[in-house]
Amino acid sequence: MKLLVMGPPGAGKGSQSKRLVEDYNLTNISTGEMFREAYKRGEKLGIEAMEYIEKGNLVADDITNEIVRKRLMKKAAESSFLLDGYPRTVNQAKALDDMLEEMGTRLTAVINIVVDKEVILERMVGRRVCKSCNATYHTKFRPPDKEDLCDECGGELYQREDDKPASVRNRLNIYESKTKPIIDYYKGRGVLVNINGMQSFEAVYANIRRSLREIIR
Ligand code: AP5
Ligand code: MG
Repeated sequence: MKLLVMGPPGAGKGSQSKRLVEDYNLTNISTGEMFREAYKRGEKLGIEAMEYIEKGNLVADDITNEIVRKRLMKKAAESSFLLDGYPRTVNQAKALDDMLEEMGTRLTAVINIVVDKEVILERMVGRRVCKSCNATYHTKFRPPDKEDLCDECGGELYQREDDKPASVRNRLNIYESKTKPIIDYYKGRGVLVNINGMQSFEAVYANIRRSLREIIR
């Protein structure tokens, strides 16, 4: 299984990917997570990337392609992986094609989670993330049992810097101009699956599972 999960910021890519990775035993490759983790570890890559991320801009294609390439070439990713938030530009999509060709493989499905702007804004404003294990919550839609503490590890919850209004607006504009064109890129290949993301967590997941079962069959 080689999956790509696409959609605007706040669509629910991370939330759905977490379950897919567990249920299908996939190597999770989220470029956003990789940059944030590198930042937490104080690595140069993370510190440089965070300057772009906090303002809601994209990290340069060559840097992003390189970290994905390294990860894909590891043994664990050979048979199955899930890419969350990559590719995000047509150039990245082309670079991914080259990597897959080199690996002698191709994508099983491209899952595109479709969500309106109003829903996105509400989701991003209410998102809280655990500082230690990255589990994701929402003040209204998925509140933790104890305010500001992670149910899974007891870690402190925080609001991502790029979830503040100015960055969110910029991320949405960039999604429209740079990332949305990729949908057409994959449309012609018969691997694109559009999923209505404006339903409960469970309903979105059930739709994804159903589509995957059809594709595999
Ligand atoms: P990244 O971390 O990938 O951010 P993003 O694409 O903007 O997406 P998000 O993580 O914000 O949202 P999501 O779709 O995962 O939604 P979630 O499940 O959390 O990237 C961050 C930055 O890194 C980029 O802006 C860029 O700077 C850089 N970057 C990353 N990849 C790059 C690349 N390839 N090239 C260049 N730069 C790159 O859900 C959101 C909220 O909604 C949560 O609170 C959740 O609980 C809630 N929610 C989710 N689903 C539902 C539902 N069905 N019902 C109710 N609430 C829901
Ligand atoms: Mg995410």
